[in-house]
Amino acid sequence: MANPLEDQVWALLQQVRFPGMSRDIVSFGFVDRVEASDDGVTVELAMATHNQDAAAAVRAEAEARLKAELGVERVEVGLRLLAPPAPAHEAISQDPSLIPEVEHVVAVASGKGGVGKSTVAANLAARLAQLGYRVGLLDADIYGPSMPMMFGISERPVVEGQRIIPFERHGVKLMSLGFILDVDTPVIWRGPMVVKAIEQLLGDVEWGALDYLIVDLPPGTGDAQLTISQKVPISGAVIVTTPQDIALIDARKGLAMFRKVEVPVLGIIENMAGFACPHCGEVTHIYKQGGGERTAGVLDCPFLGSVPLDPAVVEGGDAGTPIVVSQPDGAHAEAFTGLAEAVAAELSKRQARKLSIF
Ligand SMILES: Nc1ncnc2c1ncn2[C@@H]1O[C@H](COP(=O)(O)OP(=O)(O)OP(=O)(O)O)[C@@H](O)[C@H]1O
Ligand SMILES: [Mg+2]
Repeated sequence: MANPLEDQVWALLQQVRFPGMSRDIVSFGFVDRVEASDDGVTVELAMATHNQDAAAAVRAEAEARLKAELGVERVEVGLRLLAPPAPAHEAISQDPSLIPEVEHVVAVASGKGGVGKSTVAANLAARLAQLGYRVGLLDADIYGPSMPMMFGISERPVVEGQRIIPFERHGVKLMSLGFILDVDTPVIWRGPMVVKAIEQLLGDVEWGALDYLIVDLPPGTGDAQLTISQKVPISGAVIVTTPQDIALIDARKGLAMFRKVEVPVLGIIENMAGFACPHCGEVTHIYKQGGGERTAGVLDCPFLGSVPLDPAVVEGGDAGTPIVVSQPDGAHAEAFTGLAEAVAAELSKRQARKLSIF
């Protein structure tokens, strides 16, 4: 039987949008039940979302609109939050078959540029390889690739059939858009092109079987980072920061971004920590002290360790030999051993936790 009041309720609900979305809540299927009679109006909303604030705002707006427009005594709008069907990043056409033989993808990220992401990614990869793991390093910083310089590679990669063969240096398989594009060409790309490039760097490269694929992300928390973290099946991300407060605030942004796309944050790495005087050994904390650990505490995520500030790191980066390779017994090799172990431990902890849930 037609119920004009009910029709009116549906029509009004069609004017309510989920924050940030262009579609209305009816077409999203968020309206579970509508009952309208002389006694009043009852609406039940059911939403699969992590964003509880947005869901509460939708409920409040629906209620206010119905009360204002219907002129009935009683309007009740209930809200049920459901578990989202799949992680947000999986919903966006993630394709694990791009790299079927890669065990773990670990993203190296930061909220801010120039904190040493690429340096950390290169040394972490090289150290993991020294420790006996099968390691790849994908330079996904399509706007300013660093790996050609950090590994001293200026040739183009070999292509066999349809597959690009990655370079191999210090036991690490390497691929970067910098190996393919001219160094001086500025890259100004929009979202779909970024996705295509990342897809190719994953799927068209002969990575083979790897324990770890380390991904050096572009700085910041913009669209490119989001796209990449949605496209690549990332096991976990590490966030690089310096001990300074300003860099720590940015690390917080990086963390928030990964939480949004449901990539687990394995922890925080503090780079450019204390500088040890090569003559007397006294440590000077040029960018302050202990900030990484403090941030990890505040943000409630693990602190993975510190990398000391040292001009030899810059030399190593510019000369194409990561410092853990040029000084395998030095303080950096030791620091990166600790980081490699911490990353591996966090990943296996998470894997164990996942297994115990299902
Ligand atoms: N521990 C360190 N000690 C001394 N210099 C360092 C250290 N880590 C990084 N650097 C230097 O800092 C500069 C920036 O490092 P890097 O390029 O790795 O940062 P990034 O975060 O990847 O930068 P971008 O945001 O541009 O990608 C480089 O010159 C690098 O050699
Ligand atoms: Mg970089």
